[in-house]
Amino acid sequence: MVLVTGGAGFIGSHTCVQLLEKGYGVVVVDSLVNSHGESLERVMRIAGKKLCFVEADVRDRAVLRDIFAKYEIDSVIHFAGLKAVGESVAKPLEYYSCNIDSTLVLLEEMNAAGVKNFVFSSSATVYSAGNEMPLKENSSTGNCTNPYGWTKFMQEQMLKSLCTADSEMSVVLLRYFNPVGAHQSGLIGEDPQGVPNNLLPYVSQVAVGRLKCLTVHGDDYDTPDGTGVRDYIHVVDLARAHICALDYVSSHKGCEIFNVGTGHGSSVLDVVHSFEKVSGRKIPYKIGPRRAGDLATVYSDVSKAKSVLGFETEYDLEKMCADAWHWQTLNPAGYVG
Ligand code: UD1
Repeated sequence: MVLVTGGAGFIGSHTCVQLLEKGYGVVVVDSLVNSHGESLERVMRIAGKKLCFVEADVRDRAVLRDIFAKYEIDSVIHFAGLKAVGESVAKPLEYYSCNIDSTLVLLEEMNAAGVKNFVFSSSATVYSAGNEMPLKENSSTGNCTNPYGWTKFMQEQMLKSLCTADSEMSVVLLRYFNPVGAHQSGLIGEDPQGVPNNLLPYVSQVAVGRLKCLTVHGDDYDTPDGTGVRDYIHVVDLARAHICALDYVSSHKGCEIFNVGTGHGSSVLDVVHSFEKVSGRKIPYKIGPRRAGDLATVYSDVSKAKSVLGFETEYDLEKMCADAWHWQTLNPAGYVG
């Protein structure tokens, strides 16, 4: 069985669908502080199979101990964590406690239970500014601009150290670029609390009428149309990368890092135009100043994931927008609506 922490969240829920579809037994532990139990009901509906759900914080050692005692866990996929960049600047201790302590407790309890296979939800945010594009797994990391980024950096370091000490450990660090889109059923998708910070959910809420106008954070970057360029990846493709990573950790030892993106950059205006096309709605936008900490262009070199994991993305920007729009129209207020 696979233990999935944070399985009720955006990427976790899409991964759970594919795990169930592939025949894995799944135990989810999620505190629901930033997600809804309803997403797991829908995961089971899509897959036509059941998973086990434990509502708890991953820092709760007794709960984890019970889970490892009760279920035959072979592998862990660790998604749980706080992920809002701005909030992490305002509440650093909450971020360090939640993200670092949860990983420590989880690894200690895995170790006690003799579980050695681990897939970690990392982020392209660990790369330093100033790298050449595309980013490769050995591009320089660190000098993070916010506590959220540092927590990912530190968690990666903890896992690398553990693999050095324990030759039986098998760890894959997946560095996500910009996950967007939704399951094509429209039953599960991204449901941010409050006003979204990320581009796609913001655009999608403008399209559905929940928000009035998008602010484009700068149009004077050195990019083809002056707006920021990012490597957006369909969440269903990203979820599949976890299945590949799980296969990999079951047959290898040590720590391997993989970028998970498409290898292509799209600008803010590319996203706006794509979304307008698939939704048939106009997305009003105005140009604002640059957002602090933003880079002009970020995209991945995906050759390692392709050659080692056999992972390649299937979906393009238009499909990402179409599926995000489908989810948004079926669930205009998210899971609670
Ligand atoms: C952000 C985080 C990153 C995190 C990732 C998760 C920052 C600085 N970085 O990356 O750590 O891992 O999300 O997906 O927050 N944009 C607008 N208007 C908006 C929102 C965004 O123009 O209202 C632009 C941004 O300037 C950027 C692009 O859209 O050029 C993408 O922004 P966003 O979705 O926030 O992702 P990142 O900044 O790449």
